[in-house]
Amino acid sequence: MRKGSIAGFAAVVAIVAAVAVLFAYAAGWLSPGKLTPGRFVDRFKQVSGRHPGFRLNHAKGLCFAGWFDSDGQGAALSRATIFQPGRVRVIGRFSLGGGMPYQADKANTVRGLAISFMPAHGEEWRTAMINLPVFPFATPQAFYDQMLALAPDPATGKPNPARIQAFFAKYPESANALKLIQSQPVSSGFENSAFNSLDAFRFINANGETAWVRWSMLPVQPFAPAGPAHPQADTNYLFDALIASVREHPLQWHLLITIAQPGDPTDDATIPWPSDRKQVDAGTLTINQVESDDTSPARDTTFDPLVLPDGIAPSADPLLNARSVVYVRSFTLREGEHKSPAAVSPADAEK
Ligand code: HEM
Repeated sequence: MRKGSIAGFAAVVAIVAAVAVLFAYAAGWLSPGKLTPGRFVDRFKQVSGRHPGFRLNHAKGLCFAGWFDSDGQGAALSRATIFQPGRVRVIGRFSLGGGMPYQADKANTVRGLAISFMPAHGEEWRTAMINLPVFPFATPQAFYDQMLALAPDPATGKPNPARIQAFFAKYPESANALKLIQSQPVSSGFENSAFNSLDAFRFINANGETAWVRWSMLPVQPFAPAGPAHPQADTNYLFDALIASVREHPLQWHLLITIAQPGDPTDDATIPWPSDRKQVDAGTLTINQVESDDTSPARDTTFDPLVLPDGIAPSADPLLNARSVVYVRSFTLREGEHKSPAAVSPADAEK
């Protein structure tokens, strides 16, 4: 080989090696202790089993379509198009927490409400909220650790008290958050649940002024407490009730923006803000159609909390970046997999 071609060959080898190192770095192979999207994927599969084609978390769900009527009150806080007075089309998805797409509905399972606001002229906003008053885990590491610590022990099929105790000793903020969660009554169904962003965000208005906020969807449907454990364990009773109530009349929620005061934590979703904080009612969400995961475009959407329009920016809450990368990894995986029928079928959604 001539001198020039040897140098060229060596340069190509060096580039290939550098790319391989970058891939290994991104996959976390060079840092065994580092929390990577790949490790989250593996842990979700470890605790929930493999369910090709489904979301790694909030796997069981029912999609919807409707609209959001902005009353213009949010425009003083954020210049995002959706806060201008007027109507915006939405699609979204109700879900139950956990990676099991065929789990039986239970009143105490975490309920999710994910929404994509799609203004005709303006940027999309996606948000995924849950019905808890605070998030039980402050950091991605705590979320990752609890997946094993709080799961049933494979040897006994029951929770392992020593592991649970060790988890709460390591993450005392999770023990405090859990006390608050357990002190709040759970509603009877999706249709009368409130849903909360929990993570804080920054709103920026047309003058460039900023405010730290969290948001909630508060149901117009009146609260009723969850009844005793449902007799038929293996049912879709929460989803069936949701379908029946949309058939009766469109369901509505108010979008409430809560504004932080200086000193309120904006990077820790386990801590509630004081209840006297100013709230702005930015408008009403109306849901008039529900649709099975099998047929809705919302199945092929990932409600990444960092899909934000101009006028809404993330906070430094460490959950947000982790959520974004793990949701996208879950989406990429499931989009490449064969789809099995959802627990709530198109026929169920038509009932
Ligand atoms: C580190 C913390 C978290 C991790 C690792 C995580 C992970 C995930 C994953 C993998 C998905 C499935 C995404 C997809 O395939 O499209 C998901 C969905 C979801 N997550 Fe999280 N999550 C976290 C925190 C949160 C928080 C703080 C909330 C709410 C405040 C939340 C609410 C939801 C909801 C509602 C869905 C279902 C969205 C849908 O219907 O597509 N998650 N999560």
